[in-house]
Amino acid sequence: MEIESKFLDQLARARRVCVLTGAGISAESGVPTFRGGGQSAVWKGMPFDEISSARMVRENLGEVWEWFDYRLGILKDCRPNAGHFALAEIAQRFSDFTLVTQNIDGFHCEAGSRDVIELHGNIQRARCVDCEKRFEIAGIVPHWPEECDECGAKLRPDVVLFGEMLPEGAFEIAVEAARRCDLFLVVGTSALVYPAAGLAAIARSAGAVVVEINPEETALSDVCDFAIREKSGVALPMLASVLNVE
Ligand code: OAD
Repeated sequence: MEIESKFLDQLARARRVCVLTGAGISAESGVPTFRGGGQSAVWKGMPFDEISSARMVRENLGEVWEWFDYRLGILKDCRPNAGHFALAEIAQRFSDFTLVTQNIDGFHCEAGSRDVIELHGNIQRARCVDCEKRFEIAGIVPHWPEECDECGAKLRPDVVLFGEMLPEGAFEIAVEAARRCDLFLVVGTSALVYPAAGLAAIARSAGAVVVEINPEETALSDVCDFAIREKSGVALPMLASVLNVE
């Protein structure tokens, strides 16, 4: 893999780094992406943005749980890959490093990353629809207690669905990091879902160098200064090793 030397210079000079990851970083772990034609894109004939929606939680919570159980079932046989581990390693090199993810699989934490901003929640948690008490899911399918032990209301996945707000404060922290950084990495996202996709433009307009790591072009490619057209499980370990010999 060839990486432009101009980019390696930027990497060496960077002091404040912000990274946004999407489903692509977990693709090499065996987790299907949403828009890569993966098997989880449609559930019982319903597109994922319909089954993963605030409306479905209101109208058919059982189906929503079936869909999340299916996804949990896939995840239980998957582990973080070289890309996740490399990001945890890269973070050690910077005193100001923020990792923002749209993924709900928890793999960044499992790979050793700290203070991960999980914009879309975490599939390993459930939340009461009424009092919002949160529950850890044991990782066994089927798993969830059907009712909140505090108030008796139903539980739902603690994940952001279409038509819902991001967790309070999470996006604000991400925006702050995007504004502050001098290097912004966009890894494995089609950059079609907002507000997460807007972080790269925020970083760029605040003066950061924006770099995309994705085998394919995306909606963001035009606003990026550099593109590494490679799988993240290959590109990120290489960046980590470049930083280690600095
Ligand atoms: P997508 O499935 O939309 O995009 C995955 C991206 O990963 C594509 O651009 C692929 O080219 C790229 N990709 C595939 N394999 C890769 C690899 N090995 N290394 C690097 N990149 C690779 O996933 P997201 O952009 O994350 O939201 O989707 C954003 C949001 O849409 C998700 O968080 C989810 C979904 O609806 C909610 O559920 C709220």
